[in-house]
Amino acid sequence: MHSLLSVLCTGLLLVTAVANAADNAMLAERHAKRGVACTSCHVKSPNDKPTMTQCLACHGGSYENLAKKTDESDINPHATHMGEPECSECHSGHKQPRLVCDNCHEFTDIKVP
Ligand code: HEC
Ligand code: HEC
Ligand code: HEC
Ligand code: HEC
Repeated sequence: MHSLLSVLCTGLLLVTAVANAADNAMLAERHAKRGVACTSCHVKSPNDKPTMTQCLACHGGSYENLAKKTDESDINPHATHMGEPECSECHSGHKQPRLVCDNCHEFTDIKVP
């Protein structure tokens, strides 16, 4: 009885997790919706993490060009005293993104897509 109940509960938790993931679609999913294939980021195998060069190949070619697209706010996340960090310091493929700046600052109004 107990084990049946725990199986049911685990099932419910999984359903909830999947539903939440669909609500705030992760970056990889948003790419898929725009026709970007899994293999554009994972060239050899799914465990092959995309490099910064790969990301930049589709996003401006350089940090400098990328920064031109995000210079409207007070703080441009792509032109900072951190230089040119890995995209993965902030953006994630299939997880919640995080702003690396908040290791030291508290930029409550900056949201990483
Ligand atoms: C094959 C080309 C391609 C690759 C590789 C690629 N992207 Fe994209 N990306 C796109 C397209 C197309 C869009 C949708 C149009 C746009 O916003 O430029 C997009 C959108 C985005 C957005 C905006 C998402 C949104 O919903 O506002 C971010 C952030 C992003 N990409 C980051 C990355 C990162 C980080 C990587 C590397 C891990 C990456 N991209 C790799 C093509 C690519
Ligand atoms: C310090 C954190 C951080 C790093 C590192 C970072 N980004 Fe971003 N990125 C952001 C934030 C924050 C935004 C949202 C900016 C906005 O909405 O004005 C953003 C937005 C974007 C967008 C959408 C731009 C648009 O047209 O709206 C793309 C594409 C993108 N990033 C790609 C990259 C790529 C590629 C890299 C690595 C070369 C990278 N980012 C590194 C924080 C970061
Ligand atoms: C925009 C680039 C991008 C696209 C498109 C993308 N991924 Fe990923 N993927 C990543 C990144 C970055 C990681 C590293 C972990 C993370 O950030 O979530 C990753 C990690 C993974 C992993 C390793 C397990 C993990 O979560 O760490 C698997 C498996 C995977 N992706 C499968 C897929 C599949 C299947 C698709 C197509 C539906 C896909 N990915 C599309 C960027 C992408
Ligand atoms: C390891 C800690 C650390 C990280 C990570 C960090 N900063 Fe800073 N930042 C500092 C320190 C220390 C100062 C200097 C503080 C002062 O002068 O009062 C500073 C100053 C600043 C300033 C004001 C001075 C200037 O250079 O214009 C801004 C804006 C800023 N940081 C933005 C960012 C952004 C955006 C990020 C993420 C891309 C970031 N910081 C990441 C520690 C950090």
